[in-house]
Amino acid sequence: MRHLLDTKSLSPAEALRILDVAEDMADTQQREVKKLPTLRGRTVVNLFFEDSTRTRISFEAAAKRLSADVINFAAKGSSVSKGESLQDTAQTLQAMGADAVVIRHGASGAPRTLATSGWISAGVVNAGDGTHEHPTQALLDAYTIRKRRFGDDSRGRDLSGVGVTIVGDILHSRVARSNVWLLHTLGARVTLVAPPTLIPQDVSTWPVRVLYDLDEAIAAQPDALMMLRIQLERMNAAYFPTEREYSRRWGLDARRLQGLGADSIVMHPGPMNRGLEISAEAADSPRSTVLEQVANGVSVRMAALYLLLAGAERDADSTDATRKGTTR
Ligand code: NCD
Repeated sequence: MRHLLDTKSLSPAEALRILDVAEDMADTQQREVKKLPTLRGRTVVNLFFEDSTRTRISFEAAAKRLSADVINFAAKGSSVSKGESLQDTAQTLQAMGADAVVIRHGASGAPRTLATSGWISAGVVNAGDGTHEHPTQALLDAYTIRKRRFGDDSRGRDLSGVGVTIVGDILHSRVARSNVWLLHTLGARVTLVAPPTLIPQDVSTWPVRVLYDLDEAIAAQPDALMMLRIQLERMNAAYFPTEREYSRRWGLDARRLQGLGADSIVMHPGPMNRGLEISAEAADSPRSTVLEQVANGVSVRMAALYLLLAGAERDADSTDATRKGTTR
C-alpha cells in the first residue's frame, strides 16, 4: 500500500487485510512490552492543519509503538493560499526526510494533492480532509463492529448482513462518507438518518437507505447505531431550528436507548456533544463502544503505518502481521 487516502477505492481484500493486520497489532498490545522494532529509523510526520486531539495522539501512539520517530507539525491558520502553503510545508518535510506524512486538512482533497503532487516521496495517510473522508476512522469503526460481533474469531470476516445506522450531521461528516464506502465494501447494510437539511444532495448515488425518523430507524433494530457530532464549526447557516429541537428528534436519549436490540452497540467518533446528539446515559452505557473505538484506533493506525512503511512483503520482525489475511 503506497498511500491511504480514502476508503472508497479500497477493495474488499485490501480492507480486510488492514483489519486483519490491526488484529495482529492489537495482540502485540496485550504484551508487557508493547513496543515493536518494526519502524525503527523511520520518520512519521503528523501534519495537522485542523484541530484534533484523539486522531493526532492516536497516530502518534501508533507510530511510537512501532518505534518510528514522530514529528508533530501543527500548521493551523495559514493565510497563504492553500496550494502554496501545502507545497512549501511538504517540501520542508521532504527535506527533513519524512517517510510517512499523516495529514489533516480543512480542504477536501488536500491529502491526494500531497500524494500526487510530486512534492514528496513519503507515503500519505489521510487523517481527515474537509467533508471528504477520514479512512482510518471508518476502519477503526469497522474493526470495532467486527470485534464486538465475532470476538477472537474476527480475522478474515467481513460484515455481511450487519445493519449499521448512521445518525446526524451526514452533510458535514467525512466520518459518515468513509463509513458508507467501507461498510458497503464489507457487505454491511447502511442506513442514514438525519433532518433533510443535513443529508447531502448526491445521496441518491450512495449505497444507503435514507430515513428522516430516528424512531423508525431504531424500530428496525440496527446492529450498530453510530451517532455523529453536529459540526457547528462547518455550519454557516441554520440547518435545524434549535439545539433542543434537534436533540428531541435526532438525539439518542434514554428512551431510544431502551428501544435498541439486546446486542446492538452505540458508537460515536468523538468528540461528543453530550446532551445534543447523544445523552450521557447512552454515551456511558455498556452498549457504548466509544472508548473501544479509541483503543482500536491505535491498532488500526499501527496497521496502516505498517502496511505503508514496512510493506506487505517485508518480514514483520516480532509481529506476526503477515501471517494471515489476503495477499496483495
Ligand atoms: C471526527 C473528525 O474529525 O472528522 N473526529 C475524529 O476524528 N476524532 C469527527 C468529528 O469531528 O465530529
